Amino acid sequence: MRLGGWVHRSRDLGGIVFIDLRDRDGIVQVCIGPAWAPAELIAQTHALKSESVVTIEGEVVARPPQGRNPELATGDVEVHATALQVVGPAETPAIQVARAKGEELAAEELRLKYRHLDLRRPELQANLILRHRLLQRARRVLSELDFLELETPILTKPTPEGARDYLVPSRVHPGEFYALPQSPQIYKQLLMVSGFDRYFQIARCFRDEDLRFDRQPEFSQIDIEASFVTQEDVIGFVEQVLVALWDEAGHKIARPFPRLTWREAMERYGTDKPDLRFDFPIADWTTQVQPLGVPFFQSATNGSRVRGIAVPGGGSLSRKDVDQFTEAAKTVGAPGLAWVKRQGEQLSGSVGKHFTAEALGKIGVGDGDVAFITVGPDRVTSPALDKVRREVIRRLAPQPKVAHALCWVVDFPLFEPDPETGRPVFAHHPFTSPRPEDVSKLDSDPFACRALHYDAVYNGNELGSGSIRITDPAVQRTVFRHLGLSPEEIETRFGFLLNALAAGAPPHGGFAIGFDRTVMLIVGAASMRDVIAFPKTTAARALFEGAPAPARPEDLAALHIKVVPPHE
Ligand code: AMO
Repeated sequence: MRLGGWVHRSRDLGGIVFIDLRDRDGIVQVCIGPAWAPAELIAQTHALKSESVVTIEGEVVARPPQGRNPELATGDVEVHATALQVVGPAETPAIQVARAKGEELAAEELRLKYRHLDLRRPELQANLILRHRLLQRARRVLSELDFLELETPILTKPTPEGARDYLVPSRVHPGEFYALPQSPQIYKQLLMVSGFDRYFQIARCFRDEDLRFDRQPEFSQIDIEASFVTQEDVIGFVEQVLVALWDEAGHKIARPFPRLTWREAMERYGTDKPDLRFDFPIADWTTQVQPLGVPFFQSATNGSRVRGIAVPGGGSLSRKDVDQFTEAAKTVGAPGLAWVKRQGEQLSGSVGKHFTAEALGKIGVGDGDVAFITVGPDRVTSPALDKVRREVIRRLAPQPKVAHALCWVVDFPLFEPDPETGRPVFAHHPFTSPRPEDVSKLDSDPFACRALHYDAVYNGNELGSGSIRITDPAVQRTVFRHLGLSPEEIETRFGFLLNALAAGAPPHGGFAIGFDRTVMLIVGAASMRDVIAFPKTTAARALFEGAPAPARPEDLAALHIKVVPPHE
């Protein structure tokens, strides 16, 4: 047989050369020994450099029982090579692909710079191979549901999704710019107006925003839209896709997913991305703890509440852990974090002396548990207790109720107050329909308007979001007006959409699953960079090819662009 691949490792054991030959399917052991290979081949193989590409000819034979390797899929066989050719010699690799057990990876900067080598690592190969399978499965499910895969432009007009746009200058229209799409949102709505009924796309989106482990400047969505549908229909389609994706990775998920309203999620978990693998929700303890006479608790007046979490088994947390949680709560504005620990009859913690075991029992704190408590308006206590709950989960690693907790969060508010001005800004994008019963409040009480918006959440992470769209041009204009757009701005920015909505628009709605994020969560990767072939750093740089980079003066001139350095 003939084989080709990369030399993962090679070693000489008493005159027989063993090569671990690697390709995308894994590793096979190749042996070159005097019983079947010519002496010059053995001599040549001594100088073989790892990561070189070789082709070999030989015979597959069973390994002797003592030489079997149960950790390798091909561990029961080896290939006795009779010929070997180095077809792609490698210089000494800048980073190590083959690692000994427990050996650390090279620093990520270096790995991103030498991405062609890092991508050879079996872990990254497995991630990208699974990514391919998930993509094919999503395509299959959606095609079977009669969705058409249609492509929308990359050189477009701005699509507001809350981030800055990447702009592309036009050479033929001096001073004019295309925007790269933050999502295909407007186009997919136009496709509905044009009668395409059910659309999907594996859409590349571009957003100039602060990056994190789960955000990239360009990323992919499984983007869908359908006409004549309700929120229930869209949720049904998306559940089918998500169940299929997890199934492709070997995990069974039950449908329908549990559902919480946004209000319930904020009340019980302090976040619209609740992690339902674990109990210990947030509780309102104002009435139970105010009589205890603790000044911190009594500061809860005028719309403030005393809220907390009772952590089962939290008694094992150390003072250092508690200090870290307190710092975490303060970073999101909490005035402080009170805590009380119960071990038998013994109570300790910052407010331990004010409690009795009975008082703790009333708020659900049992033997060996700890309670964390904070005070303030919900906009302060919710993010603080969400943060503390996440930190506790990370630190204690309690046994989850289920490994894969998918859920829906529904009934989001349509607007949220701008943190600086208090003015309404859209909570998601401005094409989301208010709930029909709330349309009358658009002018009188915009913050009370709930949206036909729904998010899919997995283990505390937002997987995707969607909504039923506004199809009445008058309602769409009202929403734009609330966002502070003048009639002229509305016409220049969105006139084409308003015209389309006035041309006979079916009721429609859709959803976008953040695909890179979903793959990251399914494979359990620590960063999205581990499931994207050529990702950017958190500073939005592509280290491998060196982008962004200054443009040549003649190119800038052709584009009618003058660069003003930041210090000018
Ligand atoms: P949204 O903006 O919520 O909705 O995006 C949908 C999902 O895309 C993923 N996502 C990202 N993934 C990686 N890097 C990023 N920078 C990034 N930003 C978002 C998230 C998110 O949940 N047009 C609407 C969808 C609709 O209403 O149909 C939209 O784009 O997983």
